[in-house]
Amino acid sequence: MLSTNQIKPQTCRWHPFNTSIELEVSAVAAIQRLAGQAIVERGVFLIVLSGGTTPRRIYEALRNIKTEWNSWHIYFGDERCLPVDDPERNNHMATLAWLNHVDIPMSQIHPIPAEKGASVASAEYAQAVNKIALFDLVLLGLGEDGHTASLFPGHELGDSPGAPATIAVFDAPKPPPQRVSLSAQRLSDARNVMFLITGNNKAQAVDNWRSQIAIPASAIKPENGVDIYIEQLLSNQGNIQAHDNKL
Ligand code: 6PG
Repeated sequence: MLSTNQIKPQTCRWHPFNTSIELEVSAVAAIQRLAGQAIVERGVFLIVLSGGTTPRRIYEALRNIKTEWNSWHIYFGDERCLPVDDPERNNHMATLAWLNHVDIPMSQIHPIPAEKGASVASAEYAQAVNKIALFDLVLLGLGEDGHTASLFPGHELGDSPGAPATIAVFDAPKPPPQRVSLSAQRLSDARNVMFLITGNNKAQAVDNWRSQIAIPASAIKPENGVDIYIEQLLSNQGNIQAHDNKL
């Protein structure tokens, strides 16, 4: 039987862009605005970063925004179980593109210790994120098969109430097979969730999502809905209609 959370609808606001550059500019502006708002209202900005290649130019552009870096706290939505300085690690990319270039205190950057293997890293990271009730902003990508973070089709998504905050993954279809992911439930405990989607290979996953055919990305259901920043061409079903821009 499905739990109430699994049948709860997902609110999606689609934000189509003609080019990836327009998408990136708009995403950077939204992140800066949400950071400013969180810092004014609560004194801190708790952001969860996405892996993959799509956010790299956004991270590079974030180096140059005006903000109070010492109020930022950085978390990761998923990590690949690879040695600490492996260039394929998600935190490595974010560090090179962005974090090395700004003044966020090191104690406020929380990488997933994936070098310890999926089981240990998952348990340790759950302790770190369990201290937080709501993230201010979660950034997520979308894979060709509809995965998001390291939540893959046919695998545990952690989308029922009471699901653990993290999931150890041992047989991911996207290399490397060992990964750690925040669960769908934990990723949904956020004031804002923003998907960043570029790349020609994602049209089928996007079409499924738009047709309400469940993909792992459909399991992310924050109270305020999700904002999907996407290149217009990434759908075979005709134009994606712009929702009134919440972010
Ligand atoms: C990873 C991810 C993954 C990624 C998507 C999109 O570790 O690979 O976090 O969920 O965000 O696969 O990746 P691209 O942006 O490279 O298409």
